[in-house]
Amino acid sequence: MDRVHIIDFPIVHEPRGNLSFIESERHIPFSIQRVYYLYDVPGGATRGGHAHRTIQQVIIALSGSFDVVLDDGKEKRKVSLNRSYHGLFLPNMIWRELENFSSGAVCMVLASEYYNEAEYVRDYEEFKLLTRA
Ligand code: TYD
Repeated sequence: MDRVHIIDFPIVHEPRGNLSFIESERHIPFSIQRVYYLYDVPGGATRGGHAHRTIQQVIIALSGSFDVVLDDGKEKRKVSLNRSYHGLFLPNMIWRELENFSSGAVCMVLASEYYNEAEYVRDYEEFKLLTRA
């Protein structure tokens, strides 16, 4: 859990609006292989509910807000995201659930690897066994 942290992305403030940017391996500690985003999430829905064996991710509330509930097998923690210039860095083997999405929320995720279903841990009991080992 010590490796979980918020990254502050650069912000270019201008009267005509703000601009933030993210450079692979500069503002985040891995090379970006994939970007995906969640949107039109119905009120009350929960996303996530898994860990990744090897993938590292950065989660950003591009718009709106949501909560990320984290579990490393020992400790639990909840992080609320509501700033477009904050990224939540998650190393591998962190169980996460995303909940409490505001209406219109957009959750963008930067990932260190391509999508690979075999790389997911979707069974919490297996996650507990793996983190205990
Ligand atoms: P999942 O990772 O379980 O969603 P979340 O963690 O946001 O709740 O993925 C949901 C579905 O989308 C699942 O069938 C796999 C598919 N998917 C892809 O095809 N590519 C991707 O990059 C991601 C993240 C998911």
